[in-house]
Amino acid sequence: MIVLGIETSCDETAVALLRMQAEDEKVEILAEIVSSQIDLHRLYGGVVPELAAREHLRNLPLLYEQAVKEAKIEEAQIDCVAVTTGPGLKGCLLMGTNFSKGLVKGLSSSRNVELVAVNHIEGHIWAAALENADLKPPFLALVVSGGHTEIVLVRDFADYEIIAKTSDDAAGEAFDKSAYLLGFPYPGGADLSKLADTVTSSRFKLPKVMREAEGFSFSGLKTAISLLIKKQSEVDLADNNIKAELAYSIQDSIVDALLYKLEIAISKYAIRNIVLCGGVAANRCLRAKLSKLEACTVMFPKTEHCMDNAAMIAYVGGRRYLSSLKSFQKTLEVRPRWPIDQINE
Ligand code: KG4
Ligand code: ZN
Repeated sequence: MIVLGIETSCDETAVALLRMQAEDEKVEILAEIVSSQIDLHRLYGGVVPELAAREHLRNLPLLYEQAVKEAKIEEAQIDCVAVTTGPGLKGCLLMGTNFSKGLVKGLSSSRNVELVAVNHIEGHIWAAALENADLKPPFLALVVSGGHTEIVLVRDFADYEIIAKTSDDAAGEAFDKSAYLLGFPYPGGADLSKLADTVTSSRFKLPKVMREAEGFSFSGLKTAISLLIKKQSEVDLADNNIKAELAYSIQDSIVDALLYKLEIAISKYAIRNIVLCGGVAANRCLRAKLSKLEACTVMFPKTEHCMDNAAMIAYVGGRRYLSSLKSFQKTLEVRPRWPIDQINE
């Protein structure tokens, strides 16, 4: 069975072609292409939704054609098209969804091609399965991206419960906003982390992020950093060592908050299989600390599959196609807000 994945929920246009046999077998990635718009949006300090949508519209036919060529398949071999219909930016989701609908209409002239709606967060959760065929529920997924931060209890495929989420900024957003304060261009999270990893300690102390509350909250961190930069005369950001130490403290603070809540979840639910996913899962410090969690098995997707990509969308769509969940969300309306625990509604 060959499945095409289309992802356009934010500022990456991504297309992938996967070969899948049975629900629980290793998948073969025939082609995957991600076209990042970061350079375009960097000029504005963040994602401009209208520009992003226009880029998706321009990119999609080109990437699709390139993927089919790279995969060395005929269009007529595609059995299923999986597309992200939420959560994400409405105009961007519409571009991917409309393109997919048109494609399925064209491909279906001689035989039935299925169109499957995929939740972007569900894609991130299963990205680790692209390289680990033995990823089996139940597990706890720590989803940390630019738009989302939550701990999800994965009871089974398509059976999810959110057990902690952020009440304001996402972890990636916290990295990016902090990076901006240190003078890095958007999105900045990876640059901040790279600099932080050049030192092993810091003279700066930042408050522990939200120990008492149920979920996560990162908005206070930005205020604390701003105050620290304003108040302390020794915070000279032109001094690379000082900048690196501040980056170290910021990274430590965010990673500490994620770990603290994850450890609570591990003991509460007595589940020791952990999946780390989303763009921030590429963070080396977070990966290293998670790997040291006692008696836990931790899985990460490879770095390219932590970031937004279409292989993870194709994988989830393919599993739905191969299972009884095939007729899932037939209407294919885009859902800019679509919590993972409302996946079957
Ligand atoms: O999952 P993703 O590609 O897009 C969303 O769905 O949001 O995540 C992007 C986020 C950005 O905020 C980016 O700064 C962050 O992931 N990120 C990192 C690292 N690499 C990417 N944050 C911290 N350390 C990194 N190494
Ligand atoms: Zn994402």
